[in-house]
Amino acid sequence: GVNRTPLIAGNWKMNLDHLQAIAFVQKLAWTLKDAKHEDGSVEVAVFPPYTDLRAVQTLLDADKIAFALGAQDLSAHDSGAYTGEISGAFLSKLDCAYVIIGHSERRQYHAETDEVVAAKVQAALRHGLVPVICVGETAEDLETHGASAVPVGQLEVALESVPADADIVVAYEPVWAIGSGQAATPEQAQDVCAKLRDVVAAKLGADAAERTRVLYGGSVKSGNIASFMREPDVDGALVGGASLLVDEFAAIIRYQK
Ligand code: G3P
Repeated sequence: GVNRTPLIAGNWKMNLDHLQAIAFVQKLAWTLKDAKHEDGSVEVAVFPPYTDLRAVQTLLDADKIAFALGAQDLSAHDSGAYTGEISGAFLSKLDCAYVIIGHSERRQYHAETDEVVAAKVQAALRHGLVPVICVGETAEDLETHGASAVPVGQLEVALESVPADADIVVAYEPVWAIGSGQAATPEQAQDVCAKLRDVVAAKLGADAAERTRVLYGGSVKSGNIASFMREPDVDGALVGGASLLVDEFAAIIRYQK
């Protein structure tokens, strides 16, 4: 998109402990010296496991590394008797700017419904975190409903009661493309991302739709990133496996249109 700063986000999932995280981020920052994220033309964000956040925050701060920090999930609650949960308040105190919400792995393995996702979006906004709202269809959905019906429906619920001036990011991740090596085509990604932008317009208004970044995720690699970034409604990528490889993730960040 014309006025939107592209966002390249690395979702580490359950990989790299806090010591490995420090080594990884140091190497990545070194590899990216003088890269374009330094001049603000691309925003880079990393999403480590909770137990890494403090270590990575300290490193980013001490070495003035221009990556944004995010968490992979948060609780829908702010505090209290919720054993094992992590509050958005804790995440914003650790300088997290972003939080992934509704990743298909949470929906699939932790039974997160659209309503839970919506409650977590509200929790993120209460604590000044930018929710990265993940939506996407399974292979079965694709066959029965086509590509856009399920993600559009998921986003409509997630944006219920979100104010028009909220800062959000949307990530379209077709479940069949995640970790499969089989990315969507740029045309497929563009088609669904444009429809998701229409949902943002319908729910939050035209200004929000113009400003909101819509990412594509699912088997993004250095070899296909440019083809996605050429699409007008794809404003970046949510990268899993390839975000764990320093040279590969650096090459994705350095993509040339
Ligand atoms: O959140 C990113 C992710 O689900 C995509 O994973 O490994 O296909 O890049 P991957």
